[in-house]
Amino acid sequence: KRKIIIDTDPGQDDAVAILLALAAPDVLDLLGITCVAGNVPLPLTQKNARIVCEVAGRTDVAIYAGCDAPMARPLVTAEHVHGKTGLDGPELFDPTLPLAEGHAVDFIIETLRREDAGSVTLCTLGPLTNVATAFQRAPDIIPKLRELVMMGGAYFEVGNITPAAEFNIYVDPEAAEIVFKSGVPLVVMPLDVTHKVLATRSHIETFRAMGSTVGTFTAEMLDFFERFDVAKYGSEGGPLHDPCVIAYLLQPNLFQGRHINVEIETESKLTLGMTVADWWRVTERAPNAMFMGDVDAEGFFALLTERIARL
Ligand code: BDR
Ligand code: CA
Repeated sequence: KRKIIIDTDPGQDDAVAILLALAAPDVLDLLGITCVAGNVPLPLTQKNARIVCEVAGRTDVAIYAGCDAPMARPLVTAEHVHGKTGLDGPELFDPTLPLAEGHAVDFIIETLRREDAGSVTLCTLGPLTNVATAFQRAPDIIPKLRELVMMGGAYFEVGNITPAAEFNIYVDPEAAEIVFKSGVPLVVMPLDVTHKVLATRSHIETFRAMGSTVGTFTAEMLDFFERFDVAKYGSEGGPLHDPCVIAYLLQPNLFQGRHINVEIETESKLTLGMTVADWWRVTERAPNAMFMGDVDAEGFFALLTERIARL
């Protein structure tokens, strides 16, 4: 089984990613979930992660709270996308599943130090603050990672929080720079991929028709997260960004990309947080990331619905 840690800022699409991971215990060994400030402030992201695990009946999952603000900047949130709670849509409740004791960064460091070299996969679904803080404080943990699979960045699709930048990278560009320069084997799911997996009305009805608590919860989250303004976006349905990370672990051949150099813009006012991806290899800079560019969307939804139906 593949050992993973999920670092996240739920977020409806984060929640679907967590559910997908929980639905694959035959393949994935989830060591813990670490929460970070992002879509909404930390008190809400950690609460939302606990709600999601409880909905799936998985009160055994260890959930840690981590950094409540980016490394060098004030927090930027995305209530305009995810609602006031970060998980708008279903009726939310106060989870009984308690927060695990200790800081998420300490959990990441201590867990990786215990594990063998090249054995753990870090899945990042939010700003990279927790992970970069851990790398900075304990660089010895970097070789313990088999891979870091992230949702973040954009190339042809440019930005969703500014014209040039994708949200997760924009919120903490200093953290992103540390991760991209760390030497860890990186797999990146940028907007170029995630804007191709749109949860349409018919996908949402598939979840609702499952008739399970998780199916209904998923449908209600996606009812809110939907993006049906075809005139504005040219397409219908909310992009399932973060589940791409988990789908990659389960079925990597759904995705196609290039091993290229990616640098993070940390200074420009206009393009802060841009992932400068050398897609056409026009520089001599060494490749540092498997940057995905395409996905088999039908295969992705087949995998997602088949797995979620198991919960
Ligand atoms: C990313 O930002 C968040 O709003 C989503 O959860 C996703 O991780 C997409 O840009
Ligand atoms: Ca997210």
